[in-house]
Amino acid sequence: MKTGIIIHSSTGNTLSVAERVAAACRAHGSDVRVERVTAMDESPQARSVTLRDIPDVSDCDVVLLGAPVWGFSLSTVMAQYLSQIPSLSGKKVGCFVTQKLPRPWLGGNRAIAQMKRLCADKGAQVSATGIVNWSNRERESLIADVTERMSGLAGGR
Ligand SMILES: Cc1cc2nc3c(=O)[nH]c(=O)nc-3n(C[C@H](O)[C@H](O)[C@H](O)COP(=O)(O)O)c2cc1C
Repeated sequence: MKTGIIIHSSTGNTLSVAERVAAACRAHGSDVRVERVTAMDESPQARSVTLRDIPDVSDCDVVLLGAPVWGFSLSTVMAQYLSQIPSLSGKKVGCFVTQKLPRPWLGGNRAIAQMKRLCADKGAQVSATGIVNWSNRERESLIADVTERMSGLAGGR
């Protein structure tokens, strides 16, 4: 199984979760890579988003998408990526977000709903989701839960 973990991360939180997920996928026997989506202008205030790095997932069986919550929504960089990639049809897809605030209803749930809609527009139903609330006292267990859910999609050899 080829797994692509495709993330947007500006301060490293989402990247650190992605690395945990990647390690767990490898332990499950998956051939996994982590790739970052980047924009020409990474500022959250940018009026329009032009992507610089646009990971190609056409060879992946499993696509795990991760991004931060920005302004109670999905980061505009990940939203742009999902809007412009050609297709996710036929792939197993998982989505996760990281957010600073301690509870999912403070932007995380909305961001996940956006990701699900954007993936559906590209022909994929999202099979697993997860939210890591960075300032939650249980952050470690939230990360462990997301890691388990995401790597579970990557399956076995
Ligand atoms: C412009 C901006 C808006 C943000 N809005 C929210 C928000 O609405 N809710 C929240 O919980 N965290 C918010 N955050 C915090 C980030 O979601 C959080 O720090 C996330 O883990 C960052 O991930 P990263 O390090 O991968 O970029 C915001 C951060 C930025 C820069």
